[in-house]
Amino acid sequence: MSNQATHSVSIQPNEYRTHHCGQLNATNIHSEVVLSGWVNKIRDKGYIIWVELRDFYGITQLVFDQQRTNQPTFEKVKHLSREDVIQIKGQVIHREAANPNIPTGNIEVLVEQLQCLSHAQTPPFTIEDQTDGGLELRMKYRYLDIRRQPIRDNLIFRHQLVQSIRNYLSHRHFFEIETPFLIKSTPEGARDFMVSSHINKGQYYALPQSPQTLKQLLMVGGFDKYFQIVKCFRDEDLRSDRQPEFTQLDCELSFVNKNNVMAIFEGLLSHLLQQFTSYQSKPFKQLSFEQAINTYGTDKPDLRFEMKLVDLTQLVQGKGFQLFDTPKAIIGMVIENGGDTSRKTMDQWTKWMKSPQIGANGLIWVSQNQDGNFRSSISKFYTTKDFSQWFEKANADKGDLLLLVWGDRIQALSQMGTLRNHLAQELDLINPELFVPLWVTDFPLFEWDEQIKRYRSMHHPFTAPLTKDIPLLEHQPLKVRAQSYDLVLNGKEIGGGSIRISESHLQLKVLEILGFSKSQANDRFGFLIEALTYGAPPHGGIAWGIDRLAAVLKGKESIKDFIAFPKNNQARDLMMGAPTAWSQDQLQELE
Ligand code: AMO
Repeated sequence: MSNQATHSVSIQPNEYRTHHCGQLNATNIHSEVVLSGWVNKIRDKGYIIWVELRDFYGITQLVFDQQRTNQPTFEKVKHLSREDVIQIKGQVIHREAANPNIPTGNIEVLVEQLQCLSHAQTPPFTIEDQTDGGLELRMKYRYLDIRRQPIRDNLIFRHQLVQSIRNYLSHRHFFEIETPFLIKSTPEGARDFMVSSHINKGQYYALPQSPQTLKQLLMVGGFDKYFQIVKCFRDEDLRSDRQPEFTQLDCELSFVNKNNVMAIFEGLLSHLLQQFTSYQSKPFKQLSFEQAINTYGTDKPDLRFEMKLVDLTQLVQGKGFQLFDTPKAIIGMVIENGGDTSRKTMDQWTKWMKSPQIGANGLIWVSQNQDGNFRSSISKFYTTKDFSQWFEKANADKGDLLLLVWGDRIQALSQMGTLRNHLAQELDLINPELFVPLWVTDFPLFEWDEQIKRYRSMHHPFTAPLTKDIPLLEHQPLKVRAQSYDLVLNGKEIGGGSIRISESHLQLKVLEILGFSKSQANDRFGFLIEALTYGAPPHGGIAWGIDRLAAVLKGKESIKDFIAFPKNNQARDLMMGAPTAWSQDQLQELE
């Protein structure tokens, strides 16, 4: 329900209002009405004063006229200021200068009685669509920010999105079941938030990073299809698309394989894209993790634009150019029609690539003009024939620009992947109307963590390996692929899931590879391992980030504007001022 559609909503009349502020039109002329709301704007001509009255549903123009309004009321209106909450009684009259942009634009209310219900201080920023308030100020006074139409529309949109998801899944026999928040740690790669227990002194609950183990136990409990729209808590570094508490659509199904889960959730996302965007339904693209990394330098590529990466290592090395002969890989990327990019621009891109946030060794370029002549920062070391071969391998043409980075293979791919996204923005290559969903599959089950010198789960420890890779677990764990799938939309990871391990001995083996001794594994996850010994169905599922999905569907970077009361990037609630240090007294009370 956008605000355009709210004028049809009816309210129950009471002493505060007979109608809402988006409701009155020419059919109400001559009616006596009572309205309540906030003072949106005041236009004072001295002998006549117009006040825009705003509530959730719309805006109605009030008129106070020295000739027609009684003296005490006319005196009162002179003391009103923006954002005061008022109540008026008056008569609906025809509006001379009609406003065709709002449903109430043909009428105004000639006010007879005015009462100020709550006086407002001058707000710290203007409550308009284009506000002058910075992000931190808006978050401190979030209740004022929510009065602004763009934020309100985002929250209404989020409601519609969640409603649509609930209906879709309920109609397909998924049951929404709540799982507890005070639990034992469920690892998803972040740190836990801890909650103390007064009854159990010195002991702590963890807030769930996700309901992962609990939803698996619902399957062991015989449920066939579960979902939940649920808060998750992760104490991790924040970015524009990460919050310490966020909402998941969490799902699990029994007796399914990977393709079944992907098909159901492809159906759901297609449904949402059709409902909320101009997207035309097509089968989703699918890439293996390896293909995604090799072609786009990331496991969440934005496929709204091309710019594929190409490995030029073999062609480029062995020609005596020291810089290129030593590194493990040289990765190229073509900018179509970029051949006339100025040196100044190229220098800026190089500087950006060498900045600490990207950490590339540099950026080398080769361009070809329309006559077929090459220009390059390294033309001393290579012949025209060399450059022609590189262009051919990279599928580049006359008038194009080829960029090259060098270094460790995965690092070089990732740096080029980051440049790919950066340049797509800078060169305006992204059509904002486009939605391109993608499944990324076959992730490695483990990755090596150099810092802690241990294997880590790429998703979480309950993900099943591909059956044919199980024999590799013992000696080549890094080669084992997972039965997992990520859902990517326009370069954002919207969701991730997998088929789970449903046999206790395999679960113990995976935990062992992750560095848990048998007793540690039983201590942390004994309840799950034991449950798997009581007849566990094959099962799998997925979870989506609702905040992220809402932002991506609206083409926005930050998820904060889709959360009523978000935290800032230091995980602080600026409005309440949390977290805070607790006094000794308060801490003692907990014990
Ligand atoms: P995962 O950890 O991939 O999987 O999370 C699923 C989705 O949740 C969203 N997400 C977040 N959104 C906002 N802020 C955060 N800090 C944040 N962290 C994650 C992302 C992500 O794709 N239990 C598994 C799912 C499963 O295997 O079924 C899980 O939680 O959009």
